Amino acid sequence: MLVIGISGSPRKNGNTDLLLDAVLEGSASNGAEVKKFYLSDSVCSGCLGCGRCADTGSCNIDDYISEIYDCIGRADAVILTSPIYFESISSWMKTFIDRGQFLWSNNLDQSHSKKGLFISVAARLNTDFVCVEKTIRIFFKTLGFHQEKSLLFPGFEEPGSILDAPFALEEAREAGRKLVVERSH
Ligand SMILES: Cc1cc2nc3c(=O)[nH]c(=O)nc-3n(C[C@H](O)[C@H](O)[C@H](O)COP(=O)(O)O)c2cc1C
Repeated sequence: MLVIGISGSPRKNGNTDLLLDAVLEGSASNGAEVKKFYLSDSVCSGCLGCGRCADTGSCNIDDYISEIYDCIGRADAVILTSPIYFESISSWMKTFIDRGQFLWSNNLDQSHSKKGLFISVAARLNTDFVCVEKTIRIFFKTLGFHQEKSLLFPGFEEPGSILDAPFALEEAREAGRKLVVERSH
């Protein structure tokens, strides 16, 4: 089983990154192969809206994001992470999601046998994450993935401050283990 994590924060070892590590650790502890991508490792093109994918079923752009989508094709579970930026997902994650437009025009496996999980952290304690959840829900639906309950943690601003909340990291590890365990039944 392959579990891949896609980090939408430019802060390595930041809060969402540490939570992603904990999820991947949980999945690996249950025997999964895990792989992580940092979207900020490469500046990629946004969707050009050229519409060619509607004819060909694939994206005309070839860059790091294309590599990630190739890997998603082989994955059994995909974890997306994004910090809250201006009450939305980061531009890194939005660019990645928009580039998934080619999937919309493909004949996707709609069996929902693959799993999707979203992780987000916000500084403001009363953040409700409603805005980001909608985008993520539509994305996983487009992929034909079954979406697991998101891990959403308000009230953490400084990089690494999530380490002060062991409950959050344990919840993330448990979510990672669950991605693997429940699939094998
Ligand atoms: C450009 C930018 C915009 C942000 N906007 C918000 C916001 O609208 N609401 C909020 O609660 N936190 C906001 N934050 C704070 C981050 O969500 C918070 O620091 C989070 O822990 C960062 O996660 P990371 O360490 O994984 O990058 C913003 C941070 C940045 C850099």
